[in-house]
Amino acid sequence: MKVLVVGSGGRDHAIAWKFSTSPRVSRVYVAHGNAGIAGTAQCVNIKTIEEMADFAQKERIDLTFVGPEKPLSAGITDLFQSRGLAIIGPDSKASRLESSKCDAKTMMRELSIPVPEFENFSDPQKARDYVRNVGYPVVVKADGLAAGKGSLVCDTVEQAEEAIRQIMEDRAFGDAGQRVDIEKRLYGRELSFFCFTDGYTLVPMVAAQDYKRARENDEGKNTGGMGSYSPHPWLDDALIKTIMSRVAEPLIAGLREKYSIVYRGILYLGLMLVESQNEVVPYVLEINIRLGDPEAQVILPRLRTDLVDICEAIVAGDLKKIKPEWDPDYRLCLIATSGMTKGKKGWYKGYPDRYKIGLPIEGVDRIDPDCLVFHSGTEIDSSGRLVTTGGRVLCIVSAASTLEGARQKALAEMEKVAFEGIYYRKDIGLQ
Ligand code: GLY
Repeated sequence: MKVLVVGSGGRDHAIAWKFSTSPRVSRVYVAHGNAGIAGTAQCVNIKTIEEMADFAQKERIDLTFVGPEKPLSAGITDLFQSRGLAIIGPDSKASRLESSKCDAKTMMRELSIPVPEFENFSDPQKARDYVRNVGYPVVVKADGLAAGKGSLVCDTVEQAEEAIRQIMEDRAFGDAGQRVDIEKRLYGRELSFFCFTDGYTLVPMVAAQDYKRARENDEGKNTGGMGSYSPHPWLDDALIKTIMSRVAEPLIAGLREKYSIVYRGILYLGLMLVESQNEVVPYVLEINIRLGDPEAQVILPRLRTDLVDICEAIVAGDLKKIKPEWDPDYRLCLIATSGMTKGKKGWYKGYPDRYKIGLPIEGVDRIDPDCLVFHSGTEIDSSGRLVTTGGRVLCIVSAASTLEGARQKALAEMEKVAFEGIYYRKDIGLQ
């Protein structure tokens, strides 16, 4: 069969790679891909959802899998379904769960799903009054899509006021900052939890630990993710049961019954596990409508079941027949980012702040073939060199029977990669 993957980042590279390992898949196309993805699949330079639907019809694509949230929010699933094309990813109505943090939190509160105390604001002055009076540290979140950078964690009232100014008045994330969701800051253990769902049945995946902060020891700004590993040490059967019964199942049933939303595809719950009176409460910090980046890079290599079979079951509404099998060995993903460099007018601070692009990358060909390499921001320049094009550049995914073994391996292999200003966290996988 022919598969089309939509996306151009590291997660999308991992999805394309996974499909390429299926004996049922003869060809994988990626719209629009990057230099690394071109080594795994055939990249197609199309960018609008209409072009993608036209391509899928013309090429008789059997299955399309959408990596990022933007095309989902733009209605790619509605468009493909209207043309009878099989696609994995929630429709535009369900996509509100990620494209509006405010609406998602309100729906979850109405469905009695544990969420931090929160209020939503479209007036910056009212938001400021709230953070001055609320009496606890908060997280200020841009309502709309902000590439994983729109949540500002604040220790003080002054920081919260600054976050409101940046998001709502300076529009650091554009129109995503028309409204803000201001939440009580929770302290506990953060966990990314993923399920496949056909809108009725939920099948949990293995969990992954993501590292969102730019600097070691979880300091620095929030990023899209600096690394990840799986399996997750906290996720045992009892915790899976708690998350399923308190969050995932009431959410999917409630969306259907209360809001007429049949949520099909990938459900990604960003959770804070908080111990309270001898029980663990999984509070939902965010919902995403897709696989995580860089969580997909460590989850998909562990999946032994054919992803095509799972996708077909989602499309057919027959997911209850799927019992996925997982490799128990650890996978660890280490991301190389565009770090600090000197420009003509001074220093670039590096991802997630400003960074230089077009820098030649050396050493990727020397990475041990036992590791996977997924590219996020690379291209081949006019001289035929592999160069950087993004903040997150590429990642190395190692495998080992222990987390420390996987960590050492990924770090040793990353030593072989070089580009000006390369930066990666050396504490990914350190507990
Ligand atoms: N790793 C965070 C995300 O994919 O949103």
